[in-house]
This record gives sequence, C-alpha cells and structure tokens, in this order.
Amino acid sequence: MNLSARLTNICQAIQPYHYDHIWDCCCDHGYLGQRIMAEHPSSQVHFVDVVQHLIDEIEIRLASVPQKNGLAQCSDVAMINLHEGKDHLVIIAGVGGDLLLEMVRSIVSRHSSLMKTNRLDFILCPVRQLHKVRQGLNDLKLGLISEKIVQDNKLFYEIIQVSNQSPVSISLVGETMWDLSNSEHIAYRNIMIEHYQKQPSHQAKLLLGLYEKIK
Ligand SMILES: C[S@@+](CC[C@H](N)C(=O)[O-])C[C@H]1O[C@@H](n2cnc3c(N)ncnc32)[C@H](O)[C@@H]1O
Repeated sequence: MNLSARLTNICQAIQPYHYDHIWDCCCDHGYLGQRIMAEHPSSQVHFVDVVQHLIDEIEIRLASVPQKNGLAQCSDVAMINLHEGKDHLVIIAGVGGDLLLEMVRSIVSRHSSLMKTNRLDFILCPVRQLHKVRQGLNDLKLGLISEKIVQDNKLFYEIIQVSNQSPVSISLVGETMWDLSNSEHIAYRNIMIEHYQKQPSHQAKLLLGLYEKIK
C-alpha cells in the first residue's frame, strides 16, 4: 500500500521511542494506522473514526492481516479513553485546525492524571488555522518535539509533534522547520507572506512580520 507524502512523513515522524499505545485518530480508511501496525509491532495501534462503516471495513481488514496489534473503534476522537499508566502517541491529521484543537483540548483535559505520570505525545497535521493550533498547543503547555513542512499534491502541510514531556515553546510560524535553501520552503513562505499582506487585522500584521523575519 503506497502512502501519500504527507502520511509517509507522519509515519516517519514517530520517535524511535516505544509507545504502549498509538492512536490513528480520524483514521478514515486506516491506511496510516495499518502502516504503523507493521512498523511498530510492539505498540497497540488504535483506529478511531466517527463513521461506523469505515470502522466496519477496517475491522474486516484487521482480521485478515498477520499483525494482531490493531483495534478499531467508532467514536468521537474528543471522547477517546487513554489507558492510565501507559505511554501514548495520538495522531490527528486531515481535519481543520479548529476541530483538531478541540480534540486535543478534550483529550488533554480528560487525562490530567495520566499526564502527571506518563508520556502523552501528539503528531498533528491540521488543514488550515495553523497559527490557532500552535497558540492553542502552547496554552495547553504542550512542548515542541519536531515540526516539518511537507508538500503533497501541490499543497503544503505542517506536521507538528508535541509532548507533555517537552519544555520547548511552539512558535506561531514554526521557526525550526524552515530551510530557505529549499525551493519548496521558499514557495511556502511566499504563499504565507502574500496571504497575510492582504489581511488588514492586527494578528495578520504580526504573523506577516514573523514570516518576513524567517531566515
Ligand atoms: C479527510 S479524513 C482524514 C484521513 C486521514 N487522517 C488523513 O489525514 O488522510 C477525515 C476523517 O475524520 C473523521 N472525523 C471527523 N470528525 C471526527 C470526530 N469528531 N471524531 C472522529 N473522526 C472524525 C471523518 O469521518 C473522516 O474519516
């Protein structure tokens, strides 16, 4: 099964660290989770989507593969229950930033005791509202592990990895992900600058200044 450049990069972003549980949230057909099952055979991989027939299809597929470390559940991602005393990686990709941030807020607020004793990491790849997500993650006291720009099918995405174990604050424009010797990064930066030049708001002017300062 060939994954898109975006999903391949998400898979590669998973730390060499052992997670007891890895959650492919908003899994759709579950292609990402299935790759993770093969690459992380000692982690329990959870497939979560709110659409029942997608979960039914994944369950049929899981029954036919040799790996037995996959579990599918039909649920709102905001309501997933993380197992206490275990280390978790939650992946949310392919949904709007507002919805994604609500999911992260709900998971964090419902697992405050787990976060005192265990590792809770997220790999996030929102569609739009990136600055709102970045600000929201800071507000939740999640710290940066890594961030990366990925071009896929002529669109640009940011893959942001954060953790309750990292003290590194998250920049609104992703200061550590830029390589301006890379023509794709220059093109992405120009798109952002042109976008914010057209916006009159104070927040847009602030973001424009930050993009212009990227070296
Ligand atoms: C565009 S797909 C993203 C698939 C995959 N994660 C990716 O990045 O390619 C969005 C999926 O999110 C699911 N979804 C939307 N809101 C959800 C929620 N609140 N809880 C669980 N799944 C949700 C949809 O059913 C859909 O399958």
